[in-house]
Amino acid sequence: MERRTVRVVIVGSGFVGTELVTMLLDANRQIAIEDAALAHIEIVGVGVRDLTKARPGVPAELLTDNIDELLSRDFDILVELVGGTDDAKRYVETALARGKSVVSANKALIAQEGTRLFALADANGADFFYEAAVAGAIPIVRALKTSLAGEKLDRVMGIVNGTTNFILSKMTVEGSSYDEVLAEAQALGFAEANPSADVDGFDAASKVAILSSLAFGTSLDAVEVAREGITNVRALDVEFATRQGFVIKLLGVAERVGEHGVSLRVHPVMIRSSHPLASVHGAMNAVFVDGPRSGPLMWLGKGAGGAPTATAVLGDLLDAARNIVAERHDVPFTPDDRLFLVDSDNISSEFYISLDVVDRPGVMSQVTGVFGRHGVSIRSMEQAGVGEDARLSFITHEARSGDVKATLLELAELDAVDVVANSIRVLEDAN
Ligand SMILES: NC(=O)c1ccc[n+]([C@@H]2O[C@H](COP(=O)([O-])OP(=O)(O)OC[C@H]3O[C@@H](n4cnc5c(N)ncnc54)[C@H](OP(=O)(O)O)[C@@H]3O)[C@@H](O)[C@H]2O)c1
Repeated sequence: MERRTVRVVIVGSGFVGTELVTMLLDANRQIAIEDAALAHIEIVGVGVRDLTKARPGVPAELLTDNIDELLSRDFDILVELVGGTDDAKRYVETALARGKSVVSANKALIAQEGTRLFALADANGADFFYEAAVAGAIPIVRALKTSLAGEKLDRVMGIVNGTTNFILSKMTVEGSSYDEVLAEAQALGFAEANPSADVDGFDAASKVAILSSLAFGTSLDAVEVAREGITNVRALDVEFATRQGFVIKLLGVAERVGEHGVSLRVHPVMIRSSHPLASVHGAMNAVFVDGPRSGPLMWLGKGAGGAPTATAVLGDLLDAARNIVAERHDVPFTPDDRLFLVDSDNISSEFYISLDVVDRPGVMSQVTGVFGRHGVSIRSMEQAGVGEDARLSFITHEARSGDVKATLLELAELDAVDVVANSIRVLEDAN
């Protein structure tokens, strides 16, 4: 059967883009790619910044640093693998305005401007696909968009940042400090020289915004995701968690609150070691969802890396190509405007609280008095160390996050408390 040619422009040939080009040009894959796309895929050109860089597997004649010229050529699909929200946005808008479909792995751009860009795609009869933007190779975007479209999900929780999971896993296994493990992760290339996007939770926050739009229909226009990173997690906290049968993970959480409320947050959580997310080690990612009829479901896999991420990009590309052949595009995303974001201070949870205290009589009653004044009741307590190293660790009953914050502020004012060392949410559910 004579098949039409779908012409593809790729901008960005770094970790992901180079792998994508290699896969598309692999002679052993041509039949499978063509059968999946129902078309012959032709790479029109590959846009980069620096033409002098070595890019094994990318033919030199495809490369150009003149992106505006590249985007003015005759093509059907733009694959944007540049990252960031400046030039990438301009490239995507240029393609969509010309009615060209876009495939992107750019979580930051989608989390900030997805609603507007998807509408622009729809208005121009094009698709905008972004499977690789959340959890790399894990096909969670399609699972939420199609397979679970009819389910009223209660909660989506994910380990969606490999760097922080690598650091927390090593701290758990080796008992090392955050700083030691971060330095090791940087030496191994698992963490950037400036690790803030990962360790402060920004990267995970973009993914939570995207997961929530898929699960609940929240808008993608720079929504506020409450965010706490892992820089305060100490070896002592990890030891405490292990003794009590917990594991500390950085979770991205999108949760339904009542009929139309949604809570979006990224923060460390102590989860029971029997919870499926507790067994996600190293740089792996996982997404866990819970619905009234589906029950709990979990996807596990590589959330980053050139080849794993490129497989998700390739899947999107083939899907977009099939739509072009069929002269159709996907149903547009319509945000549910009845939804509102719930202030994370109003979300209740159990908390682990750790205090460095002065070791003298009467301290305990002062400390517990502060908890009582804010209506935060204590479920268990552990006292460790003596003299300057005295430490109190508590697990509370379920309490409003805002009340726990107020408790911590007042505790920090007590003479008997040297440092309010940490507070971490505790998730008791086994699943
Ligand atoms: N790497 C992963 O594991 C991973 C996982 C999930 C999602 N993603 C997403 O995938 C996208 C690509 O990531 P990556 O890791 O492949 O990035 P990367 O290695 O930094 O590659 C970026 C590519 O874009 C090119 N580029 C940068 N700025 C440009 C500009 N203004 N105009 C034209 N080209 C420009 C660079 O050109 P030069 O090569 O000439 O510098 C490079 O080829 C990002 O959105 C990222 O968030 C990555």
